[in-house]
Amino acid sequence: MTFASQESIMESFNRAGQKQVFTYFDSLSEQGQRKLINQLAKIEDPVNLVHTVEEAIQYSSSSSARDFTQLPEESTASTVGLDSETQAHWSQLGFEAIAQGEVAVLLMAGGQGTRLGSNEPKGCFDIQLPSHKSLFQTQAEKILKIEKLTQHQQKTGEKQPRIMWYIMTSGPTRESTETFFQKNNYFGLSPNQVKFFNQGTLPCFDLKGEKILLASQDSICESPDGNGGLYKALLVNGILDDMVAKGIKHIHAYCVDNSLVKVADPLFIGFAIDRKFDLATKVVRKRDANESVGLIVLNDDLKRPCVIEYSEISQALAEKKDPQDPSKLFLRAANIVNHYYSVDLLTKMIPKWTTSQEYLPFHIAKKKIPSMNLKSNEFYKPTEPNGIKLEQFIFDVFPSVELSKFGCLEVARSDEFSPLKNADGAQNDTPTTCRLHYLKRSTEWIKKNGGLLQNQDDLVEVSPLTSYFGEDLEIVKGKTFKNGDVI
Ligand code: UTP
Repeated sequence: MTFASQESIMESFNRAGQKQVFTYFDSLSEQGQRKLINQLAKIEDPVNLVHTVEEAIQYSSSSSARDFTQLPEESTASTVGLDSETQAHWSQLGFEAIAQGEVAVLLMAGGQGTRLGSNEPKGCFDIQLPSHKSLFQTQAEKILKIEKLTQHQQKTGEKQPRIMWYIMTSGPTRESTETFFQKNNYFGLSPNQVKFFNQGTLPCFDLKGEKILLASQDSICESPDGNGGLYKALLVNGILDDMVAKGIKHIHAYCVDNSLVKVADPLFIGFAIDRKFDLATKVVRKRDANESVGLIVLNDDLKRPCVIEYSEISQALAEKKDPQDPSKLFLRAANIVNHYYSVDLLTKMIPKWTTSQEYLPFHIAKKKIPSMNLKSNEFYKPTEPNGIKLEQFIFDVFPSVELSKFGCLEVARSDEFSPLKNADGAQNDTPTTCRLHYLKRSTEWIKKNGGLLQNQDDLVEVSPLTSYFGEDLEIVKGKTFKNGDVI
């Protein structure tokens, strides 16, 4: 770092009204000064950044009157009660694509997991299954099992198809994630099939959105740029190029915290291939009118798909019943951030999505951000939100996809969705609820395959290496299992 560039960086932050970031500058060691300047140097245009925050605050407080309705029938399907012929057809298409090496998996693991409050990235978390497998391990084993199933189903002989696993981390999660994989020998996967890349980070501001917060005397507070940062990260890290070079055509993208996720689900991939969708999303049925979930709907004005937050619809619309089937809510497609993308779509659209905020606006999230109190000169951990983080949302690009190219597949919640969001003690989405859902699902498989339980309420774990969706469990027939058993 030359003196001149240090001066110009300081000048640009002063011009942006951010001179507080240099509060302690003069008292820092040379090393501390260099550390701060290096961190600030990554922010290209501080004036523009402050402007972006103003826009994000305005955007978050504006309510655009939009008319929402259900997606048309052609865009949707449900695995609940799906006929076995369609199920087999879609799975077959998915397996064929995997056998051709056309399928890759994209994992979003860049979040800081503040609500869970673990020191390690969420994927390393042990939800206390009898096997003590981490979320990363269960997901890796699902990939291994799907590769084996494809080999068997597609008769690829000795050749076990490989599914690339692209893992998006962020500054706060990268090192510990990679180390965890190395320590665990990539859970049996080949290191070559796992590729880590980082999403971007952005400074955190005070609650008014005016001043960047300091994390220490020689650093500013930063946070990952939201799951919508995925698109830019795919581009700038050369991941998209890597996918194209490897001949990958279909992507399954999901969040690390879904303990029941079906990684590289052939049926989902086949659904998208069969219907020629460029982007598809799995949803679960909204539990009741008051469940706080985002919904996948049709923007009736634009005739485009979009996601709306639960706060954006009236109580009357939230409670409205489906005229086709009054036992169901009219708007019930709950968003679980589990997507299919064609690589063609990503190649065509990512350059657009990432160059205009029209597609990916910044949202603000009010958070408790540990930071320096510049009055007392002390570092503190707030108990109430004291600042804002800037985030892009992965689904904000949905309206840029033609309706005919967008699909929505309803899946059974008990089979596919149980997220780890909160620490134990909270009501929902905790290690305990994840463990119970995981074990209940595998115990159901045991019972369906003729296995017996010592006590009616016993819960048994099935390893993903043994079974991905309940197959290959003939071995349990007539045998008795008890709490804590692992198959
Ligand atoms: P959440 O929005 O639940 O955030 O992320 P989180 O970081 O896991 O938890 P909190 O809100 O701090 O408590 C849903 C998924 O999106 C990923 C997360 O890793 C998780 O898989 N994500 C989120 C990212 O990859 N990057 C982000 O910037 C935010």
